[in-house]
Amino acid sequence: MGVTAGIGGIVATTVPLCPRCHPLLFSISRSLFVPPMSDSDLDAVTITVTDHDAKVHTISVPTDFPLMQGLIEHLPLKAECGGACACATCHVYLADPSLFSAPSEDEIDMLDMAFSVNTNSRLSCQLMISPAHAGMVVTLAPGTEKD
Ligand code: FES
Repeated sequence: MGVTAGIGGIVATTVPLCPRCHPLLFSISRSLFVPPMSDSDLDAVTITVTDHDAKVHTISVPTDFPLMQGLIEHLPLKAECGGACACATCHVYLADPSLFSAPSEDEIDMLDMAFSVNTNSRLSCQLMISPAHAGMVVTLAPGTEKD
């Protein structure tokens, strides 16, 4: 996805932003220039999410985006830093942690700031969704609900 913007008569075109390498820039540019996702425009997988009130949802999340991106489209997940691995308010529990590679040192450090961390805790902004994640089960962690 490239971003084209015109400011003061100057048009600038950027190279495509990778959501994994530049999650904050990707999130900001997406919110400024890209209309809200519709499930019909994107490849997506269906997952099951238990929210903060223990209500179970079946939602569609886009592939090639962080899990956080799909969650905030459907549920009141705070995700304050927009995916920069700088807030821990996108904390989730994975029913099957083996679906993703091990967390980075930055993610482990940030999880130290989260509430109620378990062995299956992850930051959803650091989890890139692929077709292999269809059917996965996620629970939103306490302390991550929007005010
Ligand atoms: S959104 Fe802030 S650490 Fe994930």
